[in-house]
Amino acid sequence: MTACIVGWSHGKFGKLDGETSESLIVKAASEAIAHAGIEPKDVDVIYVGNMNGGFVRQEFHSSLALQAHPDLRFKPSTRVENACATGSAAIHMGLNTLAAGQARFVLVVGVEKMTELNSAQAGEVLIKASYVAEEADIEAGFAGIFGKITSAYFQRYGDKSDALAKIAVKAHKNGAKNPYAHFQKEFAYEFCRNPSDKNPFVAGPLKRTDCSPVTDGAAAVILTDVQTALGMKQAIAFRAAQHVNDFLPMSKRDIIKFEGPQLAWKRALAEAKLDLLDLSFVESHDCFTSAELIEYEAMGLTAPGEGERAIHEGWVERDGKLPVNVSGGLKAKGHPVGATGVSMHVMSAMQLSGTAPAGLQLPKARIGGVFNMGGAAVANYVSILEPLR
Ligand code: COA
Repeated sequence: MTACIVGWSHGKFGKLDGETSESLIVKAASEAIAHAGIEPKDVDVIYVGNMNGGFVRQEFHSSLALQAHPDLRFKPSTRVENACATGSAAIHMGLNTLAAGQARFVLVVGVEKMTELNSAQAGEVLIKASYVAEEADIEAGFAGIFGKITSAYFQRYGDKSDALAKIAVKAHKNGAKNPYAHFQKEFAYEFCRNPSDKNPFVAGPLKRTDCSPVTDGAAAVILTDVQTALGMKQAIAFRAAQHVNDFLPMSKRDIIKFEGPQLAWKRALAEAKLDLLDLSFVESHDCFTSAELIEYEAMGLTAPGEGERAIHEGWVERDGKLPVNVSGGLKAKGHPVGATGVSMHVMSAMQLSGTAPAGLQLPKARIGGVFNMGGAAVANYVSILEPLR
């Protein structure tokens, strides 16, 4: 155990008209500092997780965190980017800074303001997280990448559209209880399963209800060392933190194996000295329902090709043996890319401190896993969290 989350904040995710990345950063930073019970002057280092790359005109974000309080002026602040894993990348940078003894308190803010663009334009920005030399011409933006992965999976293991629809239903059922979620309503199985005007195909076998939405939002955490955390009012410790990057081109990999996520999970569980089923829940990167399906296999819940068992047999429901995405996941909570990894850690910290919103709180949340992925299984981060005391 090397470090702890001792304060956090999470704004409402959605189409936030009137908010800017600046206003979202300032609010998230101020609230996390207040929640930790520290003063702004106590913050030593800041990381701002922001993918950006064209969602908004403002590209240079690091110093916007300083707007939260005059005492943050002259603090070192850096923008961190690792595609859709940007939020976890920023947190893991904070862990490295603490491990190097270069800070006592680190502020990490994850933010993305995506909805100034329409979905097609956002897709153009997101596709830059593919291997552009070979993959950028794929249709439907980043959804096209996962459309291709899903088709390859179906070709090898059979049509799993029933399982994908059930994963979407689960996400929206959970998200309906999450006041921070972009979508807070349940979707019927029939609606998710069948293409319609309101649920058209987007890319390959993926329909709209298989995709995470284009979302604005921010979340923040305060990190500190274990010794300091012992004196704080709340402390959620990192029992493991692992980061594995794989090759970017899909042509260099068996893309439906998710070998990077597999290795990240294997290393994290080994570091934590735990089996997967020791975890009380997992927040996993369901940018598309098929990503969650394949992640069941990558985390070791089922054998390859059998991920559907986890959803058909109810293992990943909130009352199942390993609840996955109790928060509603990216699918229902939304996926403001730079904020997502931070959001996953905050949702987990809430669960583990018993402070999740009513209806969302699991009865016995002891240890939680976070899996955040950038690109198509390219930048892979696993954190394993538990209360310090
Ligand atoms: N799931 C469910 N409903 C969705 C949705 C989603 N992902 N996205 C939008 N909707 C709903 C909207 O709320 C709206 O509902 P309403 O008519 O009741 O108001 C309706 O669908 C139309 O919304 P619109 O924004 O016009 O949809 P769209 O077809 O332009 O965009 C997607 C839908 C799926 C294409 C878009 O959300 C998308 O590109 N998602 C993927 C983003 C992505 O690639 N992220 C990175 C992943 S790594």
